[in-house]
Amino acid sequence: MKLVLTRALFGLPEEELRKAFTQIETVEKGRPLSHEELKEALRGADVVICMLNDRIDGATASNLKCVVTYSVGTNHLNVSELTAKGIKIAHTPDVLTEATANTAWALLLAVARRLNEASHWMREEGRCDFGPDVFVGHRIEGATLGILGMGRIGQAVARRAAPFGMKVIYHNRNRLPAATEEALRARYVSAEELIMSSDMLSLHCPLTSDTRHFINERSLSQMKSRSVLVNTSRGAVVDETALIAHLKRNPEFRVGLDVYEKEPQVPGELLRLPNAFCLPHVGSAERETRARMAQICGEEAIRFAKGQPLRYEHRI
Ligand code: GLV
Ligand code: GLV
Repeated sequence: MKLVLTRALFGLPEEELRKAFTQIETVEKGRPLSHEELKEALRGADVVICMLNDRIDGATASNLKCVVTYSVGTNHLNVSELTAKGIKIAHTPDVLTEATANTAWALLLAVARRLNEASHWMREEGRCDFGPDVFVGHRIEGATLGILGMGRIGQAVARRAAPFGMKVIYHNRNRLPAATEEALRARYVSAEELIMSSDMLSLHCPLTSDTRHFINERSLSQMKSRSVLVNTSRGAVVDETALIAHLKRNPEFRVGLDVYEKEPQVPGELLRLPNAFCLPHVGSAERETRARMAQICGEEAIRFAKGQPLRYEHRI
């Protein structure tokens, strides 16, 4: 059986992989693969360990029997086409929950307090000034944190809110059990109330046809004009064009982004706006977390090769 990895990973169970597969090929170009390169790489592969920027559908999959993605998100895979072809899918939930929640909080705090702007100013000016109105941001204590998507990561974000003295409201496809709401001190609200009442809004839903452009021209116009929006989920949950226009019109509205609609492309305009803090999709980028993700990917590939049930199978 042949295993293909689209990037070189650290933390793989290498010895066990060598026992389970007769052939292992690592394609490492130091960047995401183009669609053609991916297709070429997958020719003859039974199992692939892929990245979240490898778009795999029924046609790309050729001979594949199992796709293991080094991510929790699966929106880059055409899950229905792959499933229809009997191709199994595994991903890496759980291990990156806390890391991603930390990234969301880092963005929330940095953006609310304008730390990115302040740091940028300091580099340019080469000095430090204390002044009553120098880089004055939003108060965090007592503010309302809105969370869209109360799955694993949304809940981990909510758990961090109490020490900061924030109130938590959330919206999710399904309301959480009362005991979980109580433990998280989170109040369920409609999507509309979430948009209108949040001082800071953090997105943690998967990208689906329901959540695509959840944040759009209309919802942006309903948000508080001095609020903070953070997206560590998927770029297309936000209409990027509408967001850029809104940021230009409302300098007190601030955004922290880790994900973009057309990755790897990011509009230059967005990168230049002072009220946008942009990170290059580093949500899970903690060394230990990345090693665990590789370990899980390796173990899933081995389970598949041995005919054992997958542990982190993603089903429709
Ligand atoms: C990161 O975005 C992931 O889906 O793991
Ligand atoms: C700030 O540095 C303060 O002393 O208030």
